[in-house]
Amino acid sequence: MKEVVISGTGVFTPPYSISNDELVASFNAYVDLFNAEHADEIAAGTVEAKSYSSSEFIFAASGIESRYVMEKEGILDPHRMCPSYPPRGDDEPSLMAEMALDAAKVALEMGGVEASDVDLILCAASNMERAYPAMAVEIQALMGAGGFAFDMNVACSSATFGIQTAADMIRAGSIKRALVLCPEITSGHLEWRDRDCHFIFGDVATAVLLEAADVATKPQFKLLSSRCATQFSNNIRNNNGFLRRAHDQMDDRRDMQFMQNGRKVFKEVLPLVSQHIAQHMQEEEQDPTSLKRLWLHQANKSMNDYIGKKVLGRVPTPEEQPNILQDYANTSSAGSIIAFAQHGEGLSQGDLGLICSFGAGYSVGSVVVEKL
Ligand code: COA
Repeated sequence: MKEVVISGTGVFTPPYSISNDELVASFNAYVDLFNAEHADEIAAGTVEAKSYSSSEFIFAASGIESRYVMEKEGILDPHRMCPSYPPRGDDEPSLMAEMALDAAKVALEMGGVEASDVDLILCAASNMERAYPAMAVEIQALMGAGGFAFDMNVACSSATFGIQTAADMIRAGSIKRALVLCPEITSGHLEWRDRDCHFIFGDVATAVLLEAADVATKPQFKLLSSRCATQFSNNIRNNNGFLRRAHDQMDDRRDMQFMQNGRKVFKEVLPLVSQHIAQHMQEEEQDPTSLKRLWLHQANKSMNDYIGKKVLGRVPTPEEQPNILQDYANTSSAGSIIAFAQHGEGLSQGDLGLICSFGAGYSVGSVVVEKL
């Protein structure tokens, strides 16, 4: 079995940021418009009046202060409430591919690797811009990479599941180098008109370069072990899909965007993740309290604080458990990788760290790495 290393990471940060205050101001303007437009139905009790959102609530409930997006005007237009992208022709690069390419370039440069030497591209994200051809194959062509490419979707856990998939292929010898790319245009499937969730997500793209240790020239981390687990739940769900037309559901329906029962997710995912990490460490005969860094999924600060304390047996310092969600919000599969890419400094040779993602499915993925 070949040894696997991580030799590069990259983050593409979108050009626009929306603060909680900006978001709430446009949401509340939308609420006024909605309630005025439906005044008669609201008075008759057939339509429920919408309530204002608040920056204080958002920060207290999630720890999020702002989010990056690929397009801002459409989202903040109270008459529109979703991003606005001019459609692209089939002969133009797709938006997801462009974002992924930017992150991939940074990771390749860090690893000192040419695109043509990569023999697997995984596009691992919570939503694909189209059904087919695979986004990953388009990215492979735009990059000039070799080998093969495919898409995978495990929602928020796509990155860790992608890392395990690529690492297993490297271990088995079927490939030498892989890029796991997570371009997330979450703004496209977030329901910006729902105050329960309108603040949750942001856009981003991340890249992780994995190599067989014997071909890597600039390895950063050794990949020691990984674990993936899933358990079916409807508490995070999006019903949009290719049977929409067949189901006569082409109208503007709430369930065609992201939906969640946040309280239940919070309660059910926390024990799932804590037990998953404990079992992973036990099976690998590693002491979780010896972990020097936790790069956790970035959905909610309280969730991360809880998991960090459970894993280390004490309150982690901000250096030990870095959060990026205050600036990026929840970026689905990319969150733990942004934290990993931006907060790897200060570790010494031999230090162990844990990348952990969790989310819809439910799905949990954990990856233990050793600093080289
Ligand atoms: N502004 C002001 N008030 C709001 C609001 C907003 N934007 N959104 C909801 N509220 C209100 C609710 O209506 C509710 O009022 P009520 O008590 O009168 O019914 C109250 O605030 C509490 O809402 P609730 O949804 O229970 O808040 P919460 O503390 O559970 O926080 C989440 C909401 C989504 C931040 C939290 O549940 C969470 O993070 N869950 C897990 C998220 C997650 O990991 N998702 C994974 C996605 S990949």
